[in-house]
Amino acid sequence: MLSANFRLRCGGNLCYFAGEGIVLIGNMKNARSANVAAPVDAAPFENIVRLENVQKFFGAIQALRDVNLSIGRNEIVGLIGDNGAGKSTLIKVMTGVFKPTSGDVYIRDQKLDLDNFSVSMAHDLSIETVYQDKSLGEKQPLWRNFFVGRQITNRFGFIDIKREKEIANQILMDAIGFRGAGIGVDSTVSELSGGERQGIAIGRAMHFNADLIVLDEPTAALAVKEVRKVLDFVKRIKNSGRACVYIEHNLAHVHEVADRLVILERGAVVAEITPQDMTVAELTDYLISLQHEPGER
Ligand SMILES: Nc1ncnc2c1ncn2[C@@H]1O[C@H](COP(=O)(O)OP(=O)(O)OP(=O)(O)O)[C@@H](O)[C@H]1O
Ligand SMILES: [Mg+2]
Repeated sequence: MLSANFRLRCGGNLCYFAGEGIVLIGNMKNARSANVAAPVDAAPFENIVRLENVQKFFGAIQALRDVNLSIGRNEIVGLIGDNGAGKSTLIKVMTGVFKPTSGDVYIRDQKLDLDNFSVSMAHDLSIETVYQDKSLGEKQPLWRNFFVGRQITNRFGFIDIKREKEIANQILMDAIGFRGAGIGVDSTVSELSGGERQGIAIGRAMHFNADLIVLDEPTAALAVKEVRKVLDFVKRIKNSGRACVYIEHNLAHVHEVADRLVILERGAVVAEITPQDMTVAELTDYLISLQHEPGER
């Protein structure tokens, strides 16, 4: 974890600016919402994920350059950068989709054997990714969507529909806060708005004990009212003691919910910022100034 709350590259070196340390707010045990499945209480750890000197090449294209990045156990980290900066590639390395060309990945402070790391292993390690529009079956009722690939079966091996509906209802009410919204476990995904779909996907990840929930542009193409819902879901992730990596192009949105902002440019982490230290306008100016700095890579 960084010892200073602000750093940026200057002349190719990392410069640290004195200030308050990054504070991991909240206590896992005290902060959980009632009835929401709690994160896995394994051995204590400092970081849910840490990347060390990660490089990723796609043929001749270098998508990630020497990335060093830690995600604290109850930290919301906003990942920002231009199109093609490497944000999605970075989270795919974290979540077992891509093997880095070189470098190391640690989960709960334990170094992974990257030859064996995969998406299903990431699930087993309580890391879930919510992709825009790709996470849910449109025509399926919500309760079925919650349990895809993770069915509850009774002692005869049949799907325990009653139990699945009860749990789905509990997730809707407690984890997602759909109380009185006219949406029930038998509603189909196609009846939901974009923001509500994101909420379902996030609620499902929370229910299945994800310690880290990765969101790749969850608000892209959503109406303003829907965006508000997604931001509230991200706050719920925080309040339930989990961590989140949140990729977002809209600076105001990510500024509102993140504990820390990581800025990627051409595959490299060029700055880490604590949002409280900058207004959205200052952040915007700062990002513009970064782009105008003479090339250092
Ligand atoms: N599967 C792939 N095969 C080849 N090149 C890829 C692949 N995935 C990403 N890239 C390249 O890696 C670079 C980083 O892409 P990435 O998708 O990570 O960017 P991003 O920051 O998520 O951009 P956006 O904001 O547009 O989603 C780009 O140059 C992209 O073309
Ligand atoms: Mg992307």
